[in-house]
Amino acid sequence: MRLLPIVKCRPGMKLAKKIFSQDGLVLLGENIELTERLLSRLEQCGIQYVYIADSRTEDIVLPSLISEETMQHALKDVRKNFRAMMDRPKREKGITYPYIAQPFKQLMNQIIDDLSGHQDAMIMLLDMGSVDHYLYQHSLNVCVYTMLLGMAYGYSRDELATLGMGALLHDIGKTQISIDVLKKPGSLSREEFESMKLHTRIGYELLKDEPNMPLLVAHCALQHHERIDGSGYPRGIKGNEIHDYAKWVGLVDSYDAMTTNRIYSDPILPHHAIERLYAGSGTLYEQRMLQLFRDKVAIYPIGISVKLQTGEEGVVSDINHSYPHRPVVRVLYNEAGEELRTPYEIDLSKRLTMMIVGVNDDIREAQQVAGV
Ligand SMILES: [Fe+2]
Repeated sequence: MRLLPIVKCRPGMKLAKKIFSQDGLVLLGENIELTERLLSRLEQCGIQYVYIADSRTEDIVLPSLISEETMQHALKDVRKNFRAMMDRPKREKGITYPYIAQPFKQLMNQIIDDLSGHQDAMIMLLDMGSVDHYLYQHSLNVCVYTMLLGMAYGYSRDELATLGMGALLHDIGKTQISIDVLKKPGSLSREEFESMKLHTRIGYELLKDEPNMPLLVAHCALQHHERIDGSGYPRGIKGNEIHDYAKWVGLVDSYDAMTTNRIYSDPILPHHAIERLYAGSGTLYEQRMLQLFRDKVAIYPIGISVKLQTGEEGVVSDINHSYPHRPVVRVLYNEAGEELRTPYEIDLSKRLTMMIVGVNDDIREAQQVAGV
Protein backbone atom coordinates (compact mmCIF):
# COMPACT_ATOMS: atom_id res chain seq x y z
CA MET A 1 0.00 0.00 0.00
CA ARG A 2 1.04 3.58 -0.29
CA LEU A 3 0.02 6.88 1.16
CA LEU A 4 -1.36 9.23 -1.43
CA PRO A 5 -2.53 12.83 -1.17
CA ILE A 6 -6.26 12.92 -1.74
CA VAL A 7 -5.79 15.29 -4.69
CA LYS A 8 -3.79 12.58 -6.47
CA CYS A 9 -6.45 9.90 -5.93
CA ARG A 10 -8.61 8.88 -8.86
CA PRO A 11 -11.96 7.10 -9.05
CA GLY A 12 -11.43 3.34 -9.24
CA MET A 13 -8.55 3.32 -6.75
CA LYS A 14 -9.11 1.12 -3.70
CA LEU A 15 -8.55 2.03 -0.08
CA ALA A 16 -5.94 -0.06 1.72
CA LYS A 17 -6.87 1.11 5.21
CA LYS A 18 -9.99 2.21 6.99
CA ILE A 19 -10.66 5.90 7.34
CA PHE A 20 -11.93 7.21 10.65
CA SER A 21 -14.07 10.24 11.28
CA GLN A 22 -13.18 12.84 13.90
CA ASP A 23 -15.31 10.88 16.36
CA GLY A 24 -13.34 7.72 15.76
CA LEU A 25 -16.11 6.10 13.71
CA VAL A 26 -15.29 4.17 10.56
CA LEU A 27 -16.10 6.44 7.61
CA LEU A 28 -14.97 4.05 4.91
CA GLY A 29 -13.79 0.46 5.17
CA GLU A 30 -10.88 -1.33 3.53
CA ASN A 31 -11.09 -2.27 -0.15
CA ILE A 32 -13.75 0.36 -0.83
CA GLU A 33 -13.47 1.63 -4.38
CA LEU A 34 -13.19 5.40 -4.53
CA THR A 35 -15.68 7.35 -6.63
CA GLU A 36 -15.78 11.06 -7.54
CA ARG A 37 -18.47 11.51 -4.90
CA LEU A 38 -16.51 9.75 -2.14
CA LEU A 39 -13.36 11.67 -3.02
CA SER A 40 -15.07 15.03 -2.76
CA ARG A 41 -16.70 13.96 0.50
CA LEU A 42 -13.34 12.98 1.96
CA GLU A 43 -11.91 16.32 0.89
CA GLN A 44 -14.82 18.11 2.52
CA CYS A 45 -14.06 16.19 5.73
CA GLY A 46 -10.55 17.66 5.65
CA ILE A 47 -8.85 14.35 4.90
CA GLN A 48 -5.65 15.03 2.97
CA TYR A 49 -4.05 11.61 2.66
CA VAL A 50 -5.32 8.06 2.25
CA TYR A 51 -3.70 4.64 1.98
CA ILE A 52 -4.25 3.19 -1.47
CA ALA A 53 -3.95 -0.44 -2.50
CA ASP A 54 -1.65 -0.61 -5.51
CA SER A 55 -0.31 -3.71 -7.26
CA ARG A 56 3.20 -2.23 -7.38
CA THR A 57 3.25 -1.64 -3.64
CA GLU A 58 1.02 -4.41 -2.32
CA ASP A 59 3.94 -6.08 -0.53
CA ILE A 60 4.57 -2.88 1.44
CA VAL A 61 2.78 -3.41 4.71
CA LEU A 62 2.69 -0.90 7.48
CA PRO A 63 3.34 -2.40 10.88
CA SER A 64 0.49 -1.10 13.01
CA LEU A 65 1.85 0.27 16.26
CA ILE A 66 -1.56 0.99 17.62
CA SER A 67 -4.62 -1.16 17.04
CA GLU A 68 -7.67 0.22 15.30
CA GLU A 69 -9.59 -0.09 18.52
CA THR A 70 -7.05 2.02 20.42
CA MET A 71 -6.96 4.52 17.61
CA GLN A 72 -10.73 4.90 17.65
CA HIS A 73 -10.75 5.13 21.42
CA ALA A 74 -7.99 7.77 21.35
CA LEU A 75 -9.64 9.99 18.75
CA LYS A 76 -13.00 9.82 20.46
CA ASP A 77 -11.65 10.54 23.95
CA VAL A 78 -9.36 13.34 22.90
CA ARG A 79 -12.08 15.09 20.94
CA LYS A 80 -14.72 14.71 23.63
CA ASN A 81 -12.53 15.82 26.51
CA PHE A 82 -10.82 18.66 24.69
CA ARG A 83 -14.24 19.98 23.72
CA ALA A 84 -15.37 19.71 27.33
CA MET A 85 -12.35 21.84 28.27
CA MET A 86 -13.17 24.39 25.58
CA ASP A 87 -16.73 24.70 26.80
CA ARG A 88 -15.79 24.79 30.44
CA PRO A 89 -15.58 28.57 30.99
CA LYS A 90 -19.03 28.98 29.48
CA ARG A 91 -20.59 26.58 31.94
CA GLU A 92 -22.48 27.84 34.93
CA LYS A 93 -20.98 27.40 38.32
CA GLY A 94 -21.99 24.28 40.15
CA ILE A 95 -22.50 22.20 37.02
CA THR A 96 -20.13 19.26 36.92
CA TYR A 97 -18.04 18.52 33.87
CA PRO A 98 -16.48 15.20 32.94
CA TYR A 99 -13.27 14.57 34.83
CA ILE A 100 -10.52 13.77 32.40
CA ALA A 101 -7.95 11.87 34.46
CA GLN A 102 -9.77 8.53 34.52
CA PRO A 103 -10.59 8.15 30.81
CA PHE A 104 -7.12 9.29 29.80
CA LYS A 105 -5.45 6.89 32.25
CA GLN A 106 -7.36 4.03 30.63
CA LEU A 107 -6.34 5.28 27.22
CA MET A 108 -2.66 5.42 28.25
CA ASN A 109 -2.83 1.81 29.47
CA GLN A 110 -4.35 0.75 26.17
CA ILE A 111 -1.62 2.56 24.22
CA ILE A 112 1.13 1.06 26.43
CA ASP A 113 -0.31 -2.44 25.85
CA ASP A 114 -0.29 -1.87 22.09
CA LEU A 115 3.19 -0.38 22.03
CA SER A 116 4.64 -3.09 24.28
CA GLY A 117 4.16 -5.57 21.46
CA HIS A 118 6.32 -3.39 19.22
CA GLN A 119 9.23 -2.38 21.40
CA ASP A 120 11.70 -2.55 18.54
CA ALA A 121 9.44 -0.66 16.22
CA MET A 122 10.54 2.60 14.82
CA ILE A 123 8.23 5.48 15.45
CA MET A 124 5.99 6.10 12.49
CA LEU A 125 3.91 9.15 12.78
CA LEU A 126 1.69 8.44 9.83
CA ASP A 127 0.49 5.25 11.38
CA MET A 128 -1.96 7.43 13.26
CA GLY A 129 -3.95 7.36 10.07
CA SER A 130 -6.40 10.20 10.35
CA VAL A 131 -6.22 13.87 9.64
CA ASP A 132 -8.07 15.82 12.23
CA HIS A 133 -8.37 19.12 14.00
CA TYR A 134 -4.77 20.30 14.42
CA LEU A 135 -4.81 20.40 18.20
CA TYR A 136 -6.25 16.88 18.60
CA GLN A 137 -3.98 15.34 15.98
CA HIS A 138 -0.88 17.16 17.20
CA SER A 139 -1.61 16.12 20.79
CA LEU A 140 -2.01 12.48 19.78
CA ASN A 141 1.14 12.54 17.65
CA VAL A 142 3.18 14.00 20.47
CA CYS A 143 1.68 11.48 22.89
CA VAL A 144 2.57 8.40 20.83
CA TYR A 145 6.05 9.66 19.87
CA THR A 146 6.86 10.57 23.46
CA MET A 147 5.63 7.26 24.86
CA LEU A 148 7.72 5.27 22.40
CA LEU A 149 10.77 7.33 23.30
CA GLY A 150 9.97 6.87 27.00
CA MET A 151 9.74 3.14 26.46
CA ALA A 152 13.11 3.08 24.71
CA TYR A 153 14.53 5.19 27.53
CA GLY A 154 13.40 2.58 30.07
CA TYR A 155 10.59 4.21 32.00
CA SER A 156 8.28 1.94 34.02
CA ARG A 157 4.63 1.43 33.12
CA ASP A 158 3.42 3.96 35.69
CA GLU A 159 6.00 6.50 34.59
CA LEU A 160 4.99 5.98 30.96
CA ALA A 161 1.32 6.53 31.74
CA THR A 162 2.14 9.86 33.42
CA LEU A 163 4.55 10.89 30.67
CA GLY A 164 1.95 9.96 28.03
CA MET A 165 -0.74 12.02 29.71
CA GLY A 166 1.64 14.95 30.04
CA ALA A 167 2.33 14.67 26.31
CA LEU A 168 -1.34 14.30 25.38
CA LEU A 169 -2.40 17.29 27.46
CA HIS A 170 0.64 19.56 27.03
CA ASP A 171 -1.27 22.06 24.89
CA ILE A 172 -4.62 21.80 26.67
CA GLY A 173 -4.22 25.47 27.66
CA LYS A 174 -4.73 26.34 23.98
CA THR A 175 -8.39 25.45 24.41
CA GLN A 176 -8.67 28.79 26.25
CA ILE A 177 -6.71 30.92 23.77
CA SER A 178 -8.57 33.03 21.21
CA ILE A 179 -9.14 31.15 17.98
CA ASP A 180 -8.07 34.27 16.04
CA VAL A 181 -4.62 34.04 17.59
CA LEU A 182 -4.41 30.25 17.21
CA LYS A 183 -5.38 30.32 13.55
CA LYS A 184 -3.72 33.54 12.52
CA PRO A 185 -1.83 33.19 9.26
CA GLY A 186 1.58 34.83 9.35
CA SER A 187 3.57 35.80 12.39
CA LEU A 188 2.02 36.96 15.63
CA SER A 189 2.30 40.49 17.00
CA ARG A 190 4.09 40.94 20.33
CA GLU A 191 0.81 41.04 22.25
CA GLU A 192 -0.55 38.05 20.39
CA PHE A 193 2.60 36.07 21.12
CA GLU A 194 2.37 37.02 24.79
CA SER A 195 -1.20 35.73 24.89
CA MET A 196 -0.19 32.54 23.05
CA LYS A 197 2.54 31.94 25.65
CA LEU A 198 -0.13 31.92 28.34
CA HIS A 199 -1.30 28.47 27.20
CA THR A 200 1.45 26.99 29.37
CA ARG A 201 0.24 28.61 32.61
CA ILE A 202 -3.41 28.07 31.72
CA GLY A 203 -2.74 24.39 31.02
CA TYR A 204 -1.07 24.07 34.40
CA GLU A 205 -4.01 25.73 36.15
CA LEU A 206 -6.50 23.49 34.34
CA LEU A 207 -4.64 20.31 35.23
CA LYS A 208 -3.17 20.86 38.67
CA ASP A 209 -6.44 20.50 40.57
CA GLU A 210 -7.93 17.86 38.31
CA PRO A 211 -8.93 14.93 40.52
CA ASN A 212 -6.58 11.92 40.23
CA MET A 213 -4.29 13.72 37.80
CA PRO A 214 -0.57 13.36 38.68
CA LEU A 215 0.88 16.82 39.30
CA LEU A 216 3.68 16.01 36.83
CA VAL A 217 1.12 16.11 34.01
CA ALA A 218 0.38 19.74 34.90
CA HIS A 219 4.13 20.41 34.96
CA CYS A 220 4.46 19.12 31.40
CA ALA A 221 1.91 21.73 30.32
CA LEU A 222 3.72 24.44 32.29
CA GLN A 223 7.27 23.57 31.22
CA HIS A 224 7.15 22.17 27.70
CA HIS A 225 8.38 25.46 26.17
CA GLU A 226 11.22 25.88 28.68
CA ARG A 227 14.69 25.24 27.24
CA ILE A 228 17.79 24.06 29.11
CA ASP A 229 19.73 27.34 28.58
CA GLY A 230 16.90 29.34 30.14
CA SER A 231 15.72 30.85 26.84
CA GLY A 232 12.25 29.30 27.03
CA TYR A 233 8.99 30.42 28.60
CA PRO A 234 6.99 31.09 30.76
CA ARG A 235 9.57 31.25 33.56
CA GLY A 236 12.92 30.91 31.78
CA ILE A 237 14.03 28.08 34.08
CA LYS A 238 17.17 26.09 33.20
CA GLY A 239 18.71 22.60 33.06
CA ASN A 240 17.62 20.39 35.91
CA GLU A 241 14.95 22.87 37.00
CA ILE A 242 12.95 21.54 34.05
CA HIS A 243 11.48 18.09 34.62
CA ASP A 244 12.70 15.41 32.20
CA TYR A 245 9.12 14.63 31.16
CA ALA A 246 8.63 18.23 30.06
CA LYS A 247 11.93 18.06 28.15
CA TRP A 248 10.79 14.98 26.24
CA VAL A 249 7.46 16.59 25.44
CA GLY A 250 9.16 19.85 24.42
CA LEU A 251 11.48 18.02 22.02
CA VAL A 252 8.74 15.99 20.35
CA ASP A 253 6.42 19.01 20.25
CA SER A 254 9.07 21.05 18.40
CA TYR A 255 9.66 18.27 15.89
CA ASP A 256 5.98 17.73 15.19
CA ALA A 257 5.36 21.46 14.84
CA MET A 258 8.21 21.81 12.31
CA THR A 259 7.16 18.89 10.13
CA THR A 260 3.39 19.29 10.15
CA ASN A 261 1.45 21.50 7.82
CA ARG A 262 0.69 24.60 9.86
CA ILE A 263 -1.26 27.71 9.11
CA TYR A 264 1.61 30.10 9.62
CA SER A 265 4.55 28.16 8.24
CA ASP A 266 5.31 25.54 5.63
CA PRO A 267 6.36 22.17 6.97
CA ILE A 268 10.04 21.35 6.61
CA LEU A 269 11.52 18.01 5.63
CA PRO A 270 11.94 15.59 8.53
CA HIS A 271 15.74 15.31 8.18
CA HIS A 272 16.00 19.11 8.15
CA ALA A 273 13.88 19.23 11.29
CA ILE A 274 16.29 16.82 12.99
CA GLU A 275 19.21 19.02 11.89
CA ARG A 276 17.46 22.07 13.25
CA LEU A 277 16.88 20.31 16.57
CA TYR A 278 20.53 19.26 16.63
CA ALA A 279 21.54 22.89 16.23
CA GLY A 280 20.05 23.29 19.71
CA SER A 281 21.87 20.30 21.20
CA GLY A 282 23.08 21.12 24.68
CA THR A 283 21.53 24.60 24.59
CA LEU A 284 17.85 24.06 23.93
CA TYR A 285 17.57 20.28 24.17
CA GLU A 286 19.44 17.56 26.04
CA GLN A 287 21.93 15.79 23.80
CA ARG A 288 21.06 12.32 25.19
CA MET A 289 17.39 12.91 24.35
CA LEU A 290 18.15 14.10 20.83
CA GLN A 291 20.29 11.04 20.22
CA LEU A 292 17.54 8.65 21.25
CA PHE A 293 15.06 10.60 19.16
CA ARG A 294 17.30 10.40 16.07
CA ASP A 295 17.87 6.67 16.57
CA LYS A 296 14.24 5.75 17.25
CA VAL A 297 12.22 7.92 14.91
CA ALA A 298 11.54 6.69 11.40
CA ILE A 299 11.37 10.17 10.00
CA TYR A 300 10.41 8.77 6.60
CA PRO A 301 7.78 6.20 7.50
CA ILE A 302 7.00 3.23 5.28
CA GLY A 303 4.39 4.10 2.66
CA ILE A 304 5.12 7.85 2.49
CA SER A 305 5.65 9.41 -0.96
CA VAL A 306 9.04 10.98 -1.53
CA LYS A 307 10.78 12.81 -4.34
CA LEU A 308 14.51 12.46 -5.02
CA GLN A 309 16.77 15.22 -6.35
CA THR A 310 16.89 13.42 -9.70
CA GLY A 311 13.15 14.00 -10.09
CA GLU A 312 12.34 10.33 -9.50
CA GLU A 313 9.36 9.81 -7.23
CA GLY A 314 8.34 6.83 -5.20
CA VAL A 315 7.33 5.35 -1.92
CA VAL A 316 9.39 4.44 1.13
CA SER A 317 9.35 0.65 1.08
CA ASP A 318 11.68 -0.20 3.95
CA ILE A 319 13.53 1.41 6.82
CA ASN A 320 17.23 0.94 7.48
CA HIS A 321 17.34 0.63 11.24
CA SER A 322 20.94 1.83 11.39
CA TYR A 323 20.16 4.84 9.17
CA PRO A 324 16.50 5.69 9.80
CA HIS A 325 16.80 8.91 7.79
CA ARG A 326 18.02 7.05 4.70
CA PRO A 327 15.28 4.56 3.81
CA VAL A 328 14.78 2.31 0.78
CA VAL A 329 12.68 4.04 -1.88
CA ARG A 330 10.64 2.18 -4.47
CA VAL A 331 10.63 4.40 -7.53
CA LEU A 332 7.23 4.58 -9.29
CA TYR A 333 7.81 7.63 -11.52
CA ASN A 334 10.97 8.29 -13.51
CA GLU A 335 12.86 11.58 -13.86
CA ALA A 336 10.41 12.72 -16.52
CA GLY A 337 7.45 12.06 -14.24
CA GLU A 338 6.32 9.04 -16.29
CA GLU A 339 4.65 6.28 -14.34
CA LEU A 340 6.73 3.09 -14.35
CA ARG A 341 5.08 -0.25 -14.88
CA THR A 342 8.02 -2.05 -13.32
CA PRO A 343 9.31 -0.13 -10.33
CA TYR A 344 12.85 -0.37 -9.01
CA GLU A 345 14.31 0.31 -5.59
CA ILE A 346 17.04 2.64 -4.41
CA ASP A 347 18.60 2.05 -1.00
CA LEU A 348 19.55 5.51 0.20
CA SER A 349 21.85 4.06 2.87
CA LYS A 350 24.02 2.72 0.03
CA ARG A 351 23.56 5.56 -2.45
CA LEU A 352 24.77 8.44 -0.33
CA THR A 353 24.66 10.98 -3.14
CA MET A 354 20.90 10.56 -3.47
CA MET A 355 18.79 12.99 -1.46
CA ILE A 356 15.13 13.23 -0.59
CA VAL A 357 13.96 16.69 -1.65
CA GLY A 358 10.23 16.38 -1.11
CA VAL A 359 7.70 14.54 1.00
CA ASN A 360 4.18 14.25 -0.32
CA ASP A 361 4.94 17.51 -2.03
CA ASP A 362 2.52 16.77 -4.83
CA ILE A 363 -0.19 17.94 -2.46
CA ARG A 364 1.54 21.25 -1.88
CA GLU A 365 1.92 21.81 -5.60
CA ALA A 366 -1.70 20.86 -6.13
CA GLN A 367 -2.82 23.21 -3.40
CA GLN A 368 -0.85 26.04 -4.88
CA VAL A 369 -2.47 25.42 -8.25
CA ALA A 370 -5.88 25.41 -6.59
CA GLY A 371 -4.98 28.60 -4.75
CA VAL A 372 -5.54 27.02 -1.35
FE1 LIG B 1 2.69 24.41 23.52
